[in-house]
Amino acid sequence: MRASFLSDDCPPMGIYETLYAFRDSFGAFMGSPGTHPWSQGFPLTTPLPGGPELPASVDVTWEDRFYPKAWGHPRLREAIAAHYNGFYGSRIAPENVMVFAGGRPGIHTVLALLKKHVEVRIGNVEWPAYLDILTQTGTAWRVVPFTKENGFHPPNAAYFDRTGLNAKTHLLPVISNPGNPTGHTRAGAELEELIALAEQPQNGILLDEAYEMFHESRGVSGIRYVRNLDDSNVFLAGACTKGLQCPGIRIGWIVASRKNIETLSNFSSFGMGGVSHPSQLYAVELLAAKRVAQAREAVARHYGMQRERYGRAFAAMGLKVHTGDGGFYHWLELPAGLEADELNRRLFRHGAAILKGFDCDMARPHAKDPSYRSPYASFFRFSFGPLLPETFASDVALLQRVLDEYRADAAKAAAGANG
Ligand SMILES: Cc1ncc(COP(=O)(O)O)c(C=O)c1O
Repeated sequence: MRASFLSDDCPPMGIYETLYAFRDSFGAFMGSPGTHPWSQGFPLTTPLPGGPELPASVDVTWEDRFYPKAWGHPRLREAIAAHYNGFYGSRIAPENVMVFAGGRPGIHTVLALLKKHVEVRIGNVEWPAYLDILTQTGTAWRVVPFTKENGFHPPNAAYFDRTGLNAKTHLLPVISNPGNPTGHTRAGAELEELIALAEQPQNGILLDEAYEMFHESRGVSGIRYVRNLDDSNVFLAGACTKGLQCPGIRIGWIVASRKNIETLSNFSSFGMGGVSHPSQLYAVELLAAKRVAQAREAVARHYGMQRERYGRAFAAMGLKVHTGDGGFYHWLELPAGLEADELNRRLFRHGAAILKGFDCDMARPHAKDPSYRSPYASFFRFSFGPLLPETFASDVALLQRVLDEYRADAAKAAAGANG
């Protein structure tokens, strides 16, 4: 076979690797009837209890068949700016907003265009896609420790530690907030301090707010504390993917200084060609102020309830719960002796899967290296994003059964070794 012209270091994101391994083991795709999508990062796409309806259609006229504007539909940019200004008291303009086809393309584009002297700082436990994006964009990054000792929630200052750096290096923390997979959230005074650090001259931040609404405050965004967006390297990433319940329309955005937005839209003019008009018009409907107000309540209530009761059930079955107070994941530690790899092998037989802590380890080698031991081998992420309230009891019973099976097998193996 001829050597490929394309990169040999382009595996699918960790979550997809789990999906492919699941399909090979279970014989059906995760998500098909009879499967339990605990590994999946999507929200319910049907109305939440007390939540708004989701628009069923959108009008498309002859104008919508034109090429879109590189930076986004004027109506959507306005709706996004109003979304932030209305809830967080900011004063951003449509010119501070650039529309992308989902959250990932915006994040990827910012990192792909970073100057060489900008170094990324990223938590040791973060969303798997960041590792792929940092690798493919050739970004320089260093990892900030996430440990049991710091509660998987290091202080803000840890992201801006300049030890060993020379003056020309500038720092860009990349933080999901609320965090995927840990659920840890910087809000209030802590978020204010983070943004103040990010606005200092040699600093910036890429704050990924995909889970903005998944917090008891009904909405958590750094924009509330930004002093002078146009004179900063603050980048906020948002999307319709989670709280607005529409991963399929592929609409996300970056909020940044006018100058940085202009650079991103220049990229769009030759590298993307704008974003689908029907999707952008659908997003305008999703962002109607009254609708979003209702969605904020429903998201915080429903997912807060699920976070609380799954957390209680997991603790009762002997798992250590290290989750923060946001998002729709639990960050869990297995009992001694059991690793997430083995848990998944056992879950696959029952049509279930989780995301291994290994995949969220931002210090692991990107290319497979069997000699690498991740400190998170016995950790995993459980997603309650796509789960209906009705499956709670059966989800808990299934995980309990698999843990019981493991304990019985381990006891048998120990007895055999002793005898
Ligand atoms: C931390 C984080 N950021 C951003 C996204 C949004 O991704 P997209 O809109 O590309 O599906 C996700 C979705 O899983 C996420 O978990």
